[in-house]
Amino acid sequence: MASPLDVFRADALAGHVAVITGGGTGICKGIARAYARLGCRVCITSRKQDVLDATAAELRAETGQDVLALAADVRDPDAIARVLDAARARFGKLDTLVNGAAGNFLAPATALSPNAFRTVVEIDLVGSFHAARAAFAALRDAGDGLVLNITATLHYHGTPLQLHASAAKAGVDAMTRNLAVEWGGAGVRVVSIAPGPIGDTEGMRRLAPGDAAARAKRGIPLGRFGEIDEIAAAAVFLRSAAAAYVTGTVLVVDGGHCVNQPMMLMS
Ligand code: HXC
Ligand code: NAP
Repeated sequence: MASPLDVFRADALAGHVAVITGGGTGICKGIARAYARLGCRVCITSRKQDVLDATAAELRAETGQDVLALAADVRDPDAIARVLDAARARFGKLDTLVNGAAGNFLAPATALSPNAFRTVVEIDLVGSFHAARAAFAALRDAGDGLVLNITATLHYHGTPLQLHASAAKAGVDAMTRNLAVEWGGAGVRVVSIAPGPIGDTEGMRRLAPGDAAARAKRGIPLGRFGEIDEIAAAAVFLRSAAAAYVTGTVLVVDGGHCVNQPMMLMS
């Protein structure tokens, strides 16, 4: 079956080096696969070394690229800085950071303990800040730096049961705009991709379990969940020279979900 990635030249990302947080699974594994397939050298990172090792082995076999797998919790600034340093040392440069690590669950605001709210904000928002902050010098030195934040559309409306994740992703989109302004002069672009509901992911297993998936699809103008490769294709475009004048913006890839009313049918 044709993949959205087939439109890209085989060497579209040759010479690039990316660290991808959350790259062992789901959407960001798809981004890692697409980047490696198109010539980018990749380091994937998340908390679970065994998951990362399995994904790296799979991607090496499939793409022939040298895929590095290093565990770190993005909530630990020193740990994520060590991963970024190790990737730069291994590959000689670092020009791309994809902030995909995230945590989420369905919970009404009244059921969110302070630690529950803080945990999601610390992974998604503070963790993305830690990684971006630690990557800046390398991205600047590379001369063609990119921070790609994976956010969501939850915060465009008052999405029930998603206060914690909405607050976190809103913060990340704010960071995208602020860093784009501050870092543009250093040659570093900063962008977000906001995926809508994407099939075969942990996110949708948690947010739209069972019958909720069919109900959710009725609220999507294109009538289906997105595919991981459709987010990966957007991530390739934003990393490529075709997006050299794109910064500070959010690319929504959601089948029209967020412009439809009523908003979320996932409960
Ligand atoms: C209420 C919950 C909860 C739930 C956890 N907590 N699950 N509260 N409802 N379902 C609370 C815990 O009780 C605890 O608070 C606090 O959150 C921290 O939980 P821990 O398990 O100690 O945290 P940790 O081990 O760090 O795990 C983080 C996690 C976990 C987010 C809770 O689920 C995780 O590791 N997730 C990673 C994978 C993931 O979520 N993938 C989906 C991303 S999808 P107390 O007070 O008891 O200490 C996504 C989609 C976005 O982001 C948009 C889609 C449209
Ligand atoms: P996923 O597979 O669960 O991806 C989340 C990743 O984050 C996991 O690989 C996890 O690996 C890692 N992670 C979690 N906490 C971490 C921490 N503290 N430090 C480092 N890594 C951590 O979920 P997904 O559905 O593919 O989501 C991927 C991204 O897309 C997320 O940013 C999510 O918010 C966004 N998104 C998804 C959807 C969707 O439909 N699925 C929609 C909108 C946005 P470990 O457990 O090994 O740490």
